[in-house]
Amino acid sequence: MSTADRLSAITESATLKVGANADRMRREGIDVISLGAGEPDFNTPEHAKAAAVEALEANFTRYTAASGILELREAVAARYRRDYGIELEAKDVSMAAGGKQALFNPALALYNPGDEVITHSPYWPTIVEQIKLASAKPVIVKTQSEDGFAIHADPIIDAITSRTKAIIINSPANPTGALIEESELARIADAASKRGVWVIVDLCYEQLIYDKQAHNLAKVLFDRTRDRAVIAGSASKSYAMTGLRCGWTIGPPELIKACNTILSHATSNVSSITQKAALAALAGPQDEVTRMLNEYRVRRDNMHEWLTSHPGIKCVRPKGAFYLFPDISGLFSPGGVNSSAQFAEELLNKEHVALTPGEAFDAQGYVRISYATSPENLRESANRILRFAESIKPS
Ligand SMILES: Cc1ncc(COP(=O)(O)O)c(C=O)c1O
Repeated sequence: MSTADRLSAITESATLKVGANADRMRREGIDVISLGAGEPDFNTPEHAKAAAVEALEANFTRYTAASGILELREAVAARYRRDYGIELEAKDVSMAAGGKQALFNPALALYNPGDEVITHSPYWPTIVEQIKLASAKPVIVKTQSEDGFAIHADPIIDAITSRTKAIIINSPANPTGALIEESELARIADAASKRGVWVIVDLCYEQLIYDKQAHNLAKVLFDRTRDRAVIAGSASKSYAMTGLRCGWTIGPPELIKACNTILSHATSNVSSITQKAALAALAGPQDEVTRMLNEYRVRRDNMHEWLTSHPGIKCVRPKGAFYLFPDISGLFSPGGVNSSAQFAEELLNKEHVALTPGEAFDAQGYVRISYATSPENLRESANRILRFAESIKPS
């Protein structure tokens, strides 16, 4: 079968593939620990689940507006008004089936063939694949492990050309857990505003930041470039509801209108039941979010300590999200393991631990470890990784 040209440069999601391989081995009866998935192992908060059940019981099972029900869009706007002090109303919000679609709708709405879109690496692969799917060209600015993969303004501003349509910033970032400083985003926003370039921030992990740090990216953008600022958010990680599929796009009126038009012909509304669950999650008590964050912090610190006890493994302590992104190149040797992909493959085969190789994120020499799994799994997988590291370390 020959698929359309737009698919020729697209690769399937590496993280989903890792999960599928681990599932297959599990079905064969092998005791695999998967550190591949980017999804909370916690349950969806009770009040969100109750709202979903209630919606079903009340036969709230029909089409809604493609953009989402008004109360939900109001709840998103209210949360951003409260948390970030920005002016926002329901009409500025378009609901989507997850943060993925919340990013994809603006991509389809904004990019033309030949447009360039700048983003930073190591990146979450979907950002780049979506740019390509929307017929534009990704321009990648690399960040460095030496300074914690910090996202600096200068190289991003230097990458702007007359063809640049947008800049996408993901903070907290997947896979590095890095945060952009407000001052750096401010400089990017000022430069973008002068050149008529859009700035899109992916805030999918906005509620998973470990230490107090100024991270009001919404306000930074709204104060500088309101007409070309886009925020993509998601209920998936904050409220442990990945499977329910709920995200949102916030932007200026014409863009939101375009996103709603795309939705109306692509998927129509997010599941009506999901919308009620998300409404309860956003408008209800937030103590579950704090509880999960506190638990992730303990897991991060433990896993970081265990893994870096091996001299061949170096790792920045992430500031947000729930991934470690260790540098394992110290374990490479010419006749032995010499790529992240080989490391991941041999680790899976020999020690039955699934993780995602750095190649998927444009970062050879690294692997991504999701610590959104039980403390027991983390302890056991760390033991297995350390045993594997010892078995392959260069002599
Ligand atoms: C950086 C980033 N943005 C957005 C998303 C979207 O998540 P979802 O579509 O499940 O809301 C993810 C999921 O892994 C992510 O890592």
